[in-house]
Amino acid sequence: MSKTILVTGGAGFIGANFVLEWLRLGLGKVVNLDKLTYAGNLENLLAVQHNPQHVFVHGDIGDQTLVTKLLHEHQPTAIINFAAESHVDRSIHGPEDFIQTNVLGSFHLLESVRAYWNQLSQADRQVWRFLHVSTDEVYGSLTADAPAFTENHAYAPNSPYSASKAASDHLVRAYHHTYGLPTLTTNCSNNYGPHHFPEKLIPLVIHNALTGKALPIYGTGLQIRDWLYVTDHCSAIRRVLEVGQVGEVYNVGGWNEMANINVVKTLCQILDSKKPRADGQSYAEQISFVEDRLGHDQRYAIDASKIHQQLGWKPAESFESGIEKTVTWYLENQAWVNNVTSGEYRHWVAKHYAERGEELA
Ligand code: NAD
Ligand code: TYD
Repeated sequence: MSKTILVTGGAGFIGANFVLEWLRLGLGKVVNLDKLTYAGNLENLLAVQHNPQHVFVHGDIGDQTLVTKLLHEHQPTAIINFAAESHVDRSIHGPEDFIQTNVLGSFHLLESVRAYWNQLSQADRQVWRFLHVSTDEVYGSLTADAPAFTENHAYAPNSPYSASKAASDHLVRAYHHTYGLPTLTTNCSNNYGPHHFPEKLIPLVIHNALTGKALPIYGTGLQIRDWLYVTDHCSAIRRVLEVGQVGEVYNVGGWNEMANINVVKTLCQILDSKKPRADGQSYAEQISFVEDRLGHDQRYAIDASKIHQQLGWKPAESFESGIEKTVTWYLENQAWVNNVTSGEYRHWVAKHYAERGEELA
């Protein structure tokens, strides 16, 4: 059945992919609330700018007056909360925005929703959902041979980013336990795909390769991340929204652990064949080992058995197919890349990588 949902952070990487797919699939109206921070970009939503099923609202999840007004005006039956500060390196440089949005913003959002939900009829309250989108990083770091994170793994966040996400997860849990709010939480592994802001590893490497810059690898490059193509994350969220058990947590991942250096080498190989360097050399020549991230988590790995077995979800893309699509998207969308890498982005890259001994201005 078609329904109205309120999406927060829908101008960012995963949120925009989610909104585009939701509308493409004709699943109903989307009210999209986004603060448009440096990471939020209306260009991600160009394809739906004239779609009457998409209502974009510029604003903050922490603004209870605005959120309350939106809830009463549009009467959504679910919120999907993507809005967050999301970059670990930025959280190390300046944690305050992370506390402001991820902790306080989530708290204010929950408060607005609780008040709205409380005054609904019994029948409407039962079908209402608050789906909180979180990360595997709340579980901390794994040793090389430790089993992957299940939903029962103890929280042990190590960065200001993951600590702030952990705090929001705890609030969501408490609002279910204490007030009965019908919440769902997803903890997903690293995403990649179209519209990914080029401060994160995969889009940064594609962008730097094509612009003749260094491909910066922190420390040894042997840290491991578990990669999932973004539309697979979106399909998991839709599945959890549809049939997830209220109050439950679902880990989302694609069983695809890779060392950073191997991700970067794979990207170089794909670029070598799709867009060879003028001098005939491999893009791998541009790899540069730089100073490591403070408190760098060694390994993340998601055990996605629960969502697979209980909800029947599995990813549609392999890493090979997903990364190929991703590189193709970046090659075909250089105007998007040029727009998002002007302005503030340049200051960030210059400052952050100068501190690790690499000139990327
Ligand atoms: P992103 O940084 O690309 O986008 C975040 C969006 O939220 C932006 O559009 C930004 O403008 C908006 N926003 C920030 N503060 C806001 C506020 N106070 N009010 C309203 N909007 C605000 O992030 P992303 O990579 O798309 O991640 C989305 C969510 O998924 C986050 O909650 C993140 O923790 C989670 N997540 C991300 C990954 C990943 O690999 N990127 C993996 C697992 C979970
Ligand atoms: P990132 O994309 O920032 O995601 P996260 O820190 O949330 O996992 O980084 C992915 C991995 O790549 C992480 O181990 C840090 C590493 N990395 C680099 O080696 N070089 C870089 O320039 C960046 C941005 C990340």
